[in-house]
Amino acid sequence: MATSGAASRRPGAASAQAEPPVVELRDIVKTYGRVVALNGVSMAVRAGEVMCLLGDNGAGKSTLIKVLSGVITATSGEVLLRGQPVRFDSPREAQRHGIATVHQHLAIQPLMSVTRNFFLGREPTVGWGPFRRLDMAKARRVAVAEMGRMGIDVRDADQAVGTMSGGERQCVAISRAVYFGAEVLILDEPTAALGVRQAGVVLRYVAQARARGLAVILITHNVHHAYPVADAFTILRRGTSYGTFVKSEVTREEVLRMMSGTEELDALEAELEEFALADQERPGGGGEGR
Ligand SMILES: Nc1ncnc2c1ncn2[C@@H]1O[C@H](COP(=O)(O)OP(=O)(O)OP(=O)(O)O)[C@@H](O)[C@H]1O
Ligand SMILES: [Mg+2]
Repeated sequence: MATSGAASRRPGAASAQAEPPVVELRDIVKTYGRVVALNGVSMAVRAGEVMCLLGDNGAGKSTLIKVLSGVITATSGEVLLRGQPVRFDSPREAQRHGIATVHQHLAIQPLMSVTRNFFLGREPTVGWGPFRRLDMAKARRVAVAEMGRMGIDVRDADQAVGTMSGGERQCVAISRAVYFGAEVLILDEPTAALGVRQAGVVLRYVAQARARGLAVILITHNVHHAYPVADAFTILRRGTSYGTFVKSEVTREEVLRMMSGTEELDALEAELEEFALADQERPGGGGEGR
């Protein structure tokens, strides 16, 4: 059950193991007044690896990746990039170091075009000095081509992002991260609001990002979404890490149980049975109640 096993399963493991992880968190503590959001969490992710960060609501997943993406600073603990300690005081600084984050509540402008969303202020320009202006023709070409490389067929580069499906919007953010040379891609609940098919689309891009050598951190509390694409799992429970597990060592059911705790699952099952009973007792219960 050691973290290092994650590297040893891949081809070329000898060299991968000699290299430090792309990103490492050591003993991260984050408190808000008396609330302990994180209580000494450690995690390491290597290039070409998908680390699934799992845990129930309020476990501390978003807090942990906010530390890594410069949104908040930890109360104590260390962040290392390729073995070097770093400290990010802003999201921009984390970005500059190659950390691309797609946050849980996706910061996307629904009325903006796909192209503008892809570049978000980093559009290519032509000319110089006072004659410098956006090169929108190039921007459109790049956005359509990059999305195409990830398998998304953008028919109109000026189409508003708000008219895309939830899955496609996530994909704009992912392909943008890849294009701008991110080394670490962090996705906070990218599939939470999606149906089965759209979630599948997003998970396929996660696999593509890994194939391109990115270190991916995928946050979810849906084990069924996490399991197929994950190389390893880090499980958070109430602000502490329950450990990192390599996929070959744990089954889907084991992950699920570690995530929620057996006791809690049993309690939930009992509660659901009660609901079912109450439903049967209701007049006309079980049918369309309205
Ligand atoms: N700004 C804040 N002030 C006070 N408490 C906070 C703050 N941010 C987070 N917390 C607390 O820290 C804990 C962890 O929150 P976090 O958002 O990291 O959970 P999460 O694992 O991402 O949950 P979810 O699955 O619901 O997104 C929660 O108990 C939350 O209330
Ligand atoms: Mg969260």
